[in-house]
Amino acid sequence: MIGGMTNASFPLFRPRRNRHDAFTRRLVQENRLHVDDLIWPIFVCEGENQRQKVSSMPGVERVSLDNLVEHVRPAVELGILAVAIFPITPVELRDATGTEALNPDNLMCRASRVIKEAFPELGVIGDVALDPYTDHGHDGVIKDGRILNDESVEILRQQALNQARAGNDIIAPSDMMDGRVQAIRETLDANGFETVRIMAYTAKYASAFYGPFRDALGSGGLLTGDKKTYQMDPANSDEALREVEQDIREGADMIMVKPGMPYLDIIRRIRDRFSVPTFAYQVSGEYAMLAGAIQNGWLDRDRTIMESLIAFKRAGCNGILTYFAIDAARLLKEER
Ligand code: PBG
Repeated sequence: MIGGMTNASFPLFRPRRNRHDAFTRRLVQENRLHVDDLIWPIFVCEGENQRQKVSSMPGVERVSLDNLVEHVRPAVELGILAVAIFPITPVELRDATGTEALNPDNLMCRASRVIKEAFPELGVIGDVALDPYTDHGHDGVIKDGRILNDESVEILRQQALNQARAGNDIIAPSDMMDGRVQAIRETLDANGFETVRIMAYTAKYASAFYGPFRDALGSGGLLTGDKKTYQMDPANSDEALREVEQDIREGADMIMVKPGMPYLDIIRRIRDRFSVPTFAYQVSGEYAMLAGAIQNGWLDRDRTIMESLIAFKRAGCNGILTYFAIDAARLLKEER
């Protein structure tokens, strides 16, 4: 007798039936993480036999090129499809205009060639922006304290071409200058690289969560001011849709939202509106937050990693750039 009813089938609907046992839960599962969803960002540095720990990213290392093949091998063996390379440019090579970004033998280009030679099938993604190469840590060139848009784009298109020549399969502009996707597309096409794909950092927010990445690159201490005149305001959401529209029109093949976990609503809005392949970057600060808590024993490692990543699938992502890629791929393999 409940609520005055003699009803044997109270309540009418028992959602718990579909959670009754493991097979049923799997049967009704709406989203799945697959190794194909994982893109692994890696940090490369100069020197010999280097494996430097990044203190604010427990478990993440910067590796020198002689260690790079061994560093990347587990990713290939686990079936990860692509890596994104981030170079730590020696301070003496950084200048106001990021000249080193255009050097065909810069660290990024050499890293790309090393990886492509050892693992031709592995996708290599190159970040296009000037911040690893500038002595002020900004993504473009500066005049009178302003980040110049069109002048920066002229350099970025050359940077993209330089990376395509080194063998990068996907160019990922992360600079947030207006018009850079179109400029890069034109330059790639004009030079015979019409098959090189563009994954645009489309909705990239001016975020506190990039802090550990800037530590890893050594650009954080150099940075003067903030990136609010080119990266997006965390308060905005409609603006992200306009950015997507523009990047698609300019020729982006894939788009990205960054950071990830604090911006799942943006991913969902984009997926509801557009049909373009959409990626998220679970950035350094998100990694630091989770890895730090895991390291302290405050969060369960495996479950935390997998729950953080399935959230991106649920939001509608095609894939995720994550520093947990290797751990997640291992866990997925154990599951099978
Ligand atoms: C460079 C770039 C940044 C990240 C990726 N590409 C930093 C920034 O914009 O300051 C951040 C990635 C991370 O935090 O993991 N423009």
